Amino acid sequence: MKLTVVGGGSTYTPELIDGFARLRGTLPVTELVLVDPAADRLELVGGLARRIFARQGHPGRITWTSDLDAAVDGADAVLLQLRVGGQAARQQDETWPLTCGCVGQETTGAGGLAKALRTVPVVLDIAERVRRRNPDAWIVDFTNPVGIVTRALLTAGHRAVGLCNVAIGFQRKFARLLGVDPAAVALEHVGLNHLTWERSVTVGGRDVLPELLAEHGAAVAEDLRMPRALLDRLGVVPSYYLRYFYQHDEVVRELRTKPSRAAEVAEMERRLLEMYGDPALDEKPELLGKRGGAFYSEAAVALTASLLRPAGGAGDAADVQVVNTFNRGTLPFLPDDAVIEVPAAVDARGARPLPVRPLEPLFAGLVANVTAYEHLALEAALKGGRERVFAALLAHPLIGQTERADRLTDELVAHNREHLAWA
Ligand code: G6P
Ligand code: MN
Repeated sequence: MKLTVVGGGSTYTPELIDGFARLRGTLPVTELVLVDPAADRLELVGGLARRIFARQGHPGRITWTSDLDAAVDGADAVLLQLRVGGQAARQQDETWPLTCGCVGQETTGAGGLAKALRTVPVVLDIAERVRRRNPDAWIVDFTNPVGIVTRALLTAGHRAVGLCNVAIGFQRKFARLLGVDPAAVALEHVGLNHLTWERSVTVGGRDVLPELLAEHGAAVAEDLRMPRALLDRLGVVPSYYLRYFYQHDEVVRELRTKPSRAAEVAEMERRLLEMYGDPALDEKPELLGKRGGAFYSEAAVALTASLLRPAGGAGDAADVQVVNTFNRGTLPFLPDDAVIEVPAAVDARGARPLPVRPLEPLFAGLVANVTAYEHLALEAALKGGRERVFAALLAHPLIGQTERADRLTDELVAHNREHLAWA
């Protein structure tokens, strides 16, 4: 089995490698190619990746290259984890929206739109090259904003599934609090990427969410940095990205007083790369645990294994995983080609959402609104033009006023000219 990781020079890669090494029974990788335009990072990350495999006795071969076409040739699956413009572009996304009183965040609001505009054309170009070399390869996308990027990929007819670690993070967290094995915890996770709620937490066929909130509500709320009373009032557990909606103005005030997450991450990346260069290091360093991507390797291994498992065995049931895929009637108030994040049956044919109970207006309103924004964001990413950027911003529930949308449009264009072919 050959896997290719695009953006393989990322400091996150050792997390993925560690997952491949530990879970080789689930996903027997024989060849792994890291591809990245940054040759110096590839050397550091690739070297450590090999040492991690060696330490754990993994027989797979790891190579690296900056030649995408060669790297994807013969790949069974291609994992996308790139960041166009690196942390410097993220730093911008987190900063200029604040000057208009809006949240500065890499996937939510105007910063997220900027990221989508930079990213969609690059990802579509890569996907096209993957398809040309190997039409059967699966594309597993962690590249943010995952909802919009996955919608772009699926709309262009690619064999793609979008993945985020929020659901697996909750599953692991709840399992720890409840003192059970993570595999025993099933989540009723619903919404859009980075706009989700956990509506039930099933263990042994019983919904234990009310007990979980009663006993551990304070710990869960503290983790999310939301008031505990809010969880009790909603009766569900929102992802921490809902903080940017439910506590928008408070978050803006807070972001204005501290260094950006991008700056923090850039400093961590500097230290991580230094560590990766140490030939004595042969495991993922603890510092990597301070990044937001906890458990993403485990989600990636599980999803890739399900997509690549030969279909048609006797009693071969599809695995259930939380992924990003076309709605296709699952949330009936959304278009079929909206991309939603829900538990889905996954096998070699792809991901099919499981049925979802009717969504309460309290959540459905936001989901519908952000879906419309994502539609307009994709239009702007594909076709370009100031007016399309403005429309997407005006449609966003955190923006919504013409003067603000106009100012944000100017800021977005000014800060992203080098990445936007039309600007
Ligand atoms: C979570 C999200 C990812 C995001 C990451 C950011 O894992 O699900 O989509 O990329 O947080 O983490 P960072 O350490 O870069 O702030
Ligand atoms: Mn995510």
